Amino acid sequence: MSLGPFGVAIAVAFLLVGLAYLVGSGRGPRPGREVPPNLQPFLTDEDLETSRLNKTLTAALFSSAFLAIALPLYFLSESGRQADFTEMFEEEAVHVGELIFLEQSAENPEGFGCIACHGAEGVGGGVDFTEPRTGARVTWQAPPLNLVLYLFDESEVRYWLTWGRPRTRMPALGVEAGGPLNEQQLDFVIDYLESIQISQEEALSAVNGIVDAELASLEAAPAVIDGAIAAQTGELAAIISGPDRAQWAEDLEANLRQVLEGADSGPDRDLDGLSDDSEIQINRISELAFANVGTDATPATASAANRLIVQIDPGNPFSTSGQTGDAIPDQQAAEELLRELRAQIAALRPLAANNEVLLETAETALANLESTRAEERYAVDFNDLAERAFDGNLATAQRAYGLYSGYCGRCHTAGYSAGPVGALEPGSGGLGPSLRNGRSVVQFPDAEDHYEFVLNGSVNGQPYGVTGIGRGWMPGFGAILSEADLRLIVEFERSLQ
Ligand code: HEC
Ligand code: HEC
Repeated sequence: MSLGPFGVAIAVAFLLVGLAYLVGSGRGPRPGREVPPNLQPFLTDEDLETSRLNKTLTAALFSSAFLAIALPLYFLSESGRQADFTEMFEEEAVHVGELIFLEQSAENPEGFGCIACHGAEGVGGGVDFTEPRTGARVTWQAPPLNLVLYLFDESEVRYWLTWGRPRTRMPALGVEAGGPLNEQQLDFVIDYLESIQISQEEALSAVNGIVDAELASLEAAPAVIDGAIAAQTGELAAIISGPDRAQWAEDLEANLRQVLEGADSGPDRDLDGLSDDSEIQINRISELAFANVGTDATPATASAANRLIVQIDPGNPFSTSGQTGDAIPDQQAAEELLRELRAQIAALRPLAANNEVLLETAETALANLESTRAEERYAVDFNDLAERAFDGNLATAQRAYGLYSGYCGRCHTAGYSAGPVGALEPGSGGLGPSLRNGRSVVQFPDAEDHYEFVLNGSVNGQPYGVTGIGRGWMPGFGAILSEADLRLIVEFERSLQ
């Protein structure tokens, strides 16, 4: 449909009227309306552009420049600030972990005394332990912790901290196992352990020292066991004589008290309040005590024998102290002897009371030590080993044994951590399975798989070898032993019959 000329004329007329209205309404004040302030006449530009305006503009320029520079700078250092904060938190965590590692004391109520067993900064140490197999009192090695994170990953270390090592002195420390340390405290301890790890070069370069120490220890083993037998024999003698010595101590103590009660009657040449007669009697008591009460046999009373000697001269008011060797008045020497006898009574009473049990334990321990000495089960025939596994090379066979002992013995040789006194045949099995009777050849028919396993260790829940199921207890040694040394160890293990 088209509009036609008339329609077009009307449309144009409307358009013109509309435009005229728009133009008219934009212009000038209309009657009855106030003029808005921005349209009212004001100061001229000349009046406005004073020095005040310049100052204001300059100030605005500077503050914009400041913002333009400062904001990006602030933003740039933001990530650094977060890193600093994380670092501060980590330092604090390491510090709290260290407090847990140290001994408990008034200043350090957090302490759990790892240091007492594992040594300062985790270099390794030893702890008293009654070896269950032999009943012998031994020093059990607590492994170094300054390379533990090369052997185990964090979750595996956390496992040992939580659950400890049953049947050893390593306590279960995690709340989950009924211990005192919560998850966060365990984190702190692990942070501390991380902070004390030695460098990988250091760990690798310790190898020769470790091998030499193992070979020296093997050489010294008979002498060490002889020493242990002598100590155990002495302990046994002390236990056997315990009841008699307790009786002597009690009788002599009663005698001495009586003498001291009547000591001021009769002639007294040295005028010290002890009559000549009393002084002679005290000397006699001292001699009897020395001969019958004291013994160097038990460590607990080792130096006590000397303390029982009091020699009082009726012509001299001074005697020599049995305890310090100083000159002391006779009266004081007599009292020292009395105190010493009472200390002996206190020490000997339990020995007398539990005599049968103690005797049996000590006898078993001695018998075990003697059979260890006679059988020398820890010993290795290097010539035979060299022939069987190392092309007749004696030095290589010795190195292989040293490596195995130094790195694997503590978990794969029974009693290894007690030293020669407790160690059985290499590979006899401890925390880790026995490797004797060609066991590792059965588990790993291919030596390469055996090598891979020792390189990486076990993973909890993951099968290995032919029948193995890992618990994550077997460390991986790839980070701290060279390939050549690992291969020697594998060869050694595969030769165990
Ligand atoms: C009373 C002594 C004692 C105390 C205290 C002690 N440990 Fe132990 N710990 C041991 C002994 C011993 C072993 C090794 C047991 C064995 O022969 O298998 C051990 C093993 C470990 C292991 C396993 C390491 C490995 O290579 O096999 C870790 C990790 C460990 N301890 C950490 C700690 C920490 C951390 C503390 C303190 C919170 C601590 N221990 C307190 C004696 C102790
Ligand atoms: C901290 C203790 C520990 C040390 C140290 C250790 N092992 Fe083990 N090993 C184990 C345990 C435990 C197993 C069993 C696997 C598991 O429980 O995860 C095992 C398993 C093995 C097995 C497989 C045996 C089988 O028949 O299943 C071999 C082989 C082995 N270890 C070799 C070594 C060698 C080689 C070293 C030294 C370089 C070594 N181990 C050091 C604890 C240890």
